[in-house]
Amino acid sequence: MDYKRHLVTAALPYANGPVHIGHLAGCYLPADIYVRYLRAQKKDVKFVCGSDEHGVPITIRAMKEGITPQQVVDKYHELIKESFAQMGISFDIYSRTSHKIHHETSQAFFTKLYNAGLFEEKETEQYYDEEKKVFLADRYIVGTCPVCGNENAYGDQCEKCGSTLSPDQLINPHSALSNAPLVKKKTKHWYFPLDKYEPFLKEWIVDGKKDEWKANVYGQCKSWLDNGLQPRAMTRDSNWGVPVPLPDAQGKVLYVWFDAPIGYISATKELTNQWSDYWCQEDTKLVHFIGKDNIVFHCIIFPSMLKAHGGYVLPENVPANEFLNIEGEKVSTSRNWAVWVHEYIKDFPGQQDTLRYVLCANAPETKDNDFTWKDFQDRNNSELVSIFGNFINRAFVLMHKLCNGRMPPLHTEVMDDTDRQLLNAIGNTKALIEGDLESYKFRDALYEVIDLSRKGNKYMQDKQPWIVAKTLEAQPENQKLIDNCLHLCLQLTANLAIFAAPFLPDTAKKMCYMMKVVDKMLDWENAGRADLLKVNYPLRAPELLFQKIEDEQVAAQVEKLRNNLKQNTVAMTENITKAEEKPAQNPVKAEIVYDDFAKMDLRAGTILSAEKVEKADKLLKLEIDLGFEQRTVVSGIAQFFKPEEIVGKQVTVVANLAPRKMRGIESKGMILMAENADGKLVFVSPVTETTPGSEVR
Ligand code: MF3
Ligand code: ZN
Repeated sequence: MDYKRHLVTAALPYANGPVHIGHLAGCYLPADIYVRYLRAQKKDVKFVCGSDEHGVPITIRAMKEGITPQQVVDKYHELIKESFAQMGISFDIYSRTSHKIHHETSQAFFTKLYNAGLFEEKETEQYYDEEKKVFLADRYIVGTCPVCGNENAYGDQCEKCGSTLSPDQLINPHSALSNAPLVKKKTKHWYFPLDKYEPFLKEWIVDGKKDEWKANVYGQCKSWLDNGLQPRAMTRDSNWGVPVPLPDAQGKVLYVWFDAPIGYISATKELTNQWSDYWCQEDTKLVHFIGKDNIVFHCIIFPSMLKAHGGYVLPENVPANEFLNIEGEKVSTSRNWAVWVHEYIKDFPGQQDTLRYVLCANAPETKDNDFTWKDFQDRNNSELVSIFGNFINRAFVLMHKLCNGRMPPLHTEVMDDTDRQLLNAIGNTKALIEGDLESYKFRDALYEVIDLSRKGNKYMQDKQPWIVAKTLEAQPENQKLIDNCLHLCLQLTANLAIFAAPFLPDTAKKMCYMMKVVDKMLDWENAGRADLLKVNYPLRAPELLFQKIEDEQVAAQVEKLRNNLKQNTVAMTENITKAEEKPAQNPVKAEIVYDDFAKMDLRAGTILSAEKVEKADKLLKLEIDLGFEQRTVVSGIAQFFKPEEIVGKQVTVVANLAPRKMRGIESKGMILMAENADGKLVFVSPVTETTPGSEVR
């Protein structure tokens, strides 16, 4: 098929923590390399991504940090976006699923399926926390692991031994939000009948995609299909997410795996008015880059949703990578066993290409792979510095020394086989890289780039222009041999810049600067040409492309990894205990307009007297001076303040609150209080004393 345009997506990362290098290696880096390659070919391509801001991962993080889900996503969205930018991941848009356009798009998608009668409504029993009045996702159920005895195992997984669990397997299960015992309660949800899409999926994947898709991806799909698909609930009981757009769906939101992939569509809408060309025209090539834990969602569930909706293209390919381990151990964000991208950037400023190189050269394309700092050092020092960088540096240094700093001419009459072989190698490399990139073999493609520079080094070693230079006095015509050698080495350098650009964009830019060429030279159609640099053109002095990584730097990183791990084990236990004692703060209430706020009459008031209310141990009766009048206000603060302590204090009073009788006393108004971290109340007072009755606005 001849595709007119390309739409490339990278999995929307949960905005519940920073990104680590496993994320990069798994999907963002290969996606970026692929897109840069397409752009260099002048293909019409859009590269979309954004933060996945809904679902249990976000609410869990909020609970652990003791902040609201909104605060969680606001914090991590920015950090993630910044990290990607610093790594040169060149999204056309990095959006977020909290955007209005996404809520509308995913709700409209749901409504369309609903109106077509495609959902099955089912009532089931779910665990419920009677004290907090919420249904509990499996993650919110805590108990003792039946496998290892860990008392803090979750209802879906024990983080200590890694067992996958269901809440019913836990010993002594209880809510993580309160100490309430668990009860089961009926709840209604909308199920998407995946089983009905089996014939479609079999035809599309098993009959259609088996040779194209990577073996790991095809294999997982096949086993899901062989095991038979079940209807899956597309809604959840939660107050965090996209509200279910139905009248009888209070307290229900779209399942995060329903809304998140639709985020690709919303982000494209946000990016371009032509979004429907990319999503609805058959001649679009849609490619989803993901990690292996996302395969079922992108190959089975989302395509079935798209099919049910109708009018959308299906992914042409879903190149999923396996996982990247760190120093021989699985990445664990909860144990902080990870190399965080924002920390790498801080520790290795300007060296993003080195990380891109190592993560691609060692990418977990067909099996889980290991990242070690030693390997990082070796690859940088022996491949980037000693082979690639060294070749380019030598070519420039020698050109300045032996050819007056100008691009020497090519004297075809004295060309030999070695010269011709080098030219051939450039053409061959182009074809090899194209073949590899088009079949998502990024490691192999990158290998070809380095291998070509290795050939350059070998060529230079064979030609030894610095030795030839010593013969010039006796045989001045030998300058032609020197010219040819450096002419070809520099044309090779220009080609290396083109080949390296998708992988090492910052390096390619530096090379262009040295060669005094514009970025346009990097267009893929120029690859393979041997006339990219003009003869007699003065070139710049060489720049250092890569820095050597020292043993101390490696040791420091390994130590950091181990230290982080220790600290975090302590922090983790604290978090869990905290989370159990005290749930996350309440989420921000529904938005109000200014007029709603303006209805409230807030005044500064001074407490004239305070006394305990009989037989009510929480209440104090206050007399408050509002300037224009004196008020009696009954307030539930007796546990936090002694009456004598607060006389004379200024407070903020809601002055137009309807009067209310409490314990026989009429309370006219209310005072504002804030709850601090330990659950104590503190006054919200004017910071500087003001005349009683002053308006607070
Ligand atoms: N947030 C998910 C994860 O990190 C990926 C979502 S991909 C999308 O595993 F397609 F749903 F957006
Ligand atoms: Zn366990």
